[in-house]
Amino acid sequence: MSGRFAGKSVLVTGAASGIGKATVHLFADEGADVIAVDLNIAAETESACAGSIVNFRGDAGDEREVAAIVATAVERHGGLDIICANAGISGGMAGLFEQSADDWQTLLRVNLIGPFLAIKYGARAMIDAGRTGAIVCTASVAGLRAGAGGLAYSASKAGVINLAQGAAQQLTGSGIRVNAVCPGLVDTGMTQGLYTAARSKGREDLIGQLNPLKRGGEPVEIARAIAFLASDEASYINGQALVVDGGLSTSLPFAKPRRLGQASF
Ligand SMILES: NC(=O)c1ccc[n+]([C@@H]2O[C@H](COP(=O)([O-])OP(=O)(O)OC[C@H]3O[C@@H](n4cnc5c(N)ncnc54)[C@H](O)[C@@H]3O)[C@@H](O)[C@H]2O)c1
Repeated sequence: MSGRFAGKSVLVTGAASGIGKATVHLFADEGADVIAVDLNIAAETESACAGSIVNFRGDAGDEREVAAIVATAVERHGGLDIICANAGISGGMAGLFEQSADDWQTLLRVNLIGPFLAIKYGARAMIDAGRTGAIVCTASVAGLRAGAGGLAYSASKAGVINLAQGAAQQLTGSGIRVNAVCPGLVDTGMTQGLYTAARSKGREDLIGQLNPLKRGGEPVEIARAIAFLASDEASYINGQALVVDGGLSTSLPFAKPRRLGQASF
């Protein structure tokens, strides 16, 4: 077996779509044995590539289910080396006065408690097996500043960034690294409404209008950053939030005069 992740056991949540799906395939193509978990999986399926993929239905926000999934991964692959806590929901863009505590609880359960559970049970399994490992949580640029998502979503992602820092500290001496990735706008199930609306008007150019690269991201561009953080190439990167947004978050939002401060070419 060859490949950057040959022989590695990898768990990915939110694996049936978008960033998670691209991550599953990237790891498996590079030799990993991947346990792919999503709410939206009807039945257990298995496929082989350079590595292997087993798809499980599971709820990333449910403590008992996460514990069971981690146990299954350990049982099937003899341990766990890499965890990608990626499952997330957007919760919509309802305003401050339109949101209820229930809305927040529903969102925080998946977006913030989910990564906490993945770290809690995943790191425990690594430690019990005497293994080191890497955990990568999918946060968002919405966790860096307000305005890129709904209130609860943004707060949940700010929480994920802090969770990665705190967990890295808590796991001092274990050899387990915990990092977060902060995608900008990416073409996935979560952003389908926005992309479809722009495409249906023939205005896909609007999607990249605030971004120096003038486009949204592709799921694989985030998967590559997740794989980097999980790999030995990132062996000294711990407790960090890697922004992968084409430069979107480098500027405060302001209306740019046509040519001001911009190179012409
Ligand atoms: N798409 C973007 O622009 C963008 C930007 C920044 C961050 N993110 C984050 O990326 C991550 C992946 O989202 P995506 O954009 O690929 O969206 P997506 O909707 O395409 O994929 C998310 C997947 O998570 C699954 N899921 C939802 N709740 C779950 C649960 N409780 N348990 C298990 N699986 C569950 C869904 O079924 C879906 O397959 C999320 O954490 C999201 O917040 C996305």
